[in-house]
Amino acid sequence: MWAELLPIGRSSASGGYRRFAWTGADAECRDWFREQAECRGLAYEVDRNGNQWAWLGDPAGQDAVVAGSHLDSVPDGGAFDGPLGVVSAFAALDELRGRGARFVKPLAIVNFGDEEGARFGLACVGSRLTAGELTVDQAHRLTDGDGVTLPRAMEAAGYDPDAIGPDPERLARIGAFVELHVEQGRALDLTGDAVGVASAIWPHGRWRFDFRGEANHAGTTRLVDRRDPMLSYAETVLAARREAALAGAVATFGKIAVEPNGVNAIPSLVRGWLDSRAADQQTLDKVVGGIEQAAREYAVAHGVDLHVARESFTPVVEFDHVLRDELARILGGRADLKVPVLGTGAGHDAGILSGSLPTAMLFVRNPTGVSHSPAEFAAEDDCVAGVRALADVLEGLACT
Ligand code: GLV
Ligand code: MN
Ligand code: MN
Repeated sequence: MWAELLPIGRSSASGGYRRFAWTGADAECRDWFREQAECRGLAYEVDRNGNQWAWLGDPAGQDAVVAGSHLDSVPDGGAFDGPLGVVSAFAALDELRGRGARFVKPLAIVNFGDEEGARFGLACVGSRLTAGELTVDQAHRLTDGDGVTLPRAMEAAGYDPDAIGPDPERLARIGAFVELHVEQGRALDLTGDAVGVASAIWPHGRWRFDFRGEANHAGTTRLVDRRDPMLSYAETVLAARREAALAGAVATFGKIAVEPNGVNAIPSLVRGWLDSRAADQQTLDKVVGGIEQAAREYAVAHGVDLHVARESFTPVVEFDHVLRDELARILGGRADLKVPVLGTGAGHDAGILSGSLPTAMLFVRNPTGVSHSPAEFAAEDDCVAGVRALADVLEGLACT
């Protein structure tokens, strides 16, 4: 499975993946998913929001057990963030069939669309739409950097944008969703364990800061006459670092757009996107409030206008305790496996769906902790341990 996925959407320049929603690379990933479903004799379907499902047992049955993750990537992402959960779900099913497991509940493997939000700026669009956490109107207004709207992009990929919307009946048929994911930190490396169980996801969000000044000649405009938004933006980046450090949170300006973007022109607009996360909502509010206040002061100092818009927000997620205890009980029976429970600052579809149904996550050790980068890595032994743990969990939840 890895060999087939390896070249899809991979940049030869960076070695990273560019699998953005509704692009050719995304379509190739989707074709791969469909082939995996069909070669295993699973019933394949795409839901109204473009999420892919592969069913063993009755898709209309109750109390289904679902595993999976996403196949899209951030710009120059690693191979594991997302695909590890999908590949492991198919591999766990193969393992269970090899064990002769008898399923008493429907089992599904899922690929949620547009988890990273790399193209349209909002993460977890597929699961948010399904859970009713993103309205159809909001989704129809999403626009990529080239001005292509989500509906046009879906249409171009052969999907019906008018079909999107909440899918409560589908979610009501699911008894548990377990998402296996590469760890995006070094907690498991430090405890020396191959696999962990998630406890919680930090609240997190994305904010757009538009600094508007005045375009002018870089050679002839006196410094005192300038209204340069780059200066207030730069000072805001430093303020974000300061506020986050003070609060024990994280804050990142990782994306920027500059107009007119000429070497010899003072910018008229600097648009920067802030991603900030903290252990609790109060801390996050304080950090983002502090950054915004600083940005306003810098904007005034440089004669620049500032507009701040929150583009997305995900509150704290506490994973379902009953399901988490069930996972711990199932995996606790294995003498060869110690499974720590850990929180994470990364967002996931399992977090979005946690408001609608019991969800849980398994993490697989990442020896460097690096993620959202071509350098992301997990050792094959650890991936195999992850598949075995997922198979044990699915067997415990779905089999006699
Ligand atoms: C998704 O990977 C996120 O946490 O941004
Ligand atoms: Mn990610
Ligand atoms: Mn992911």
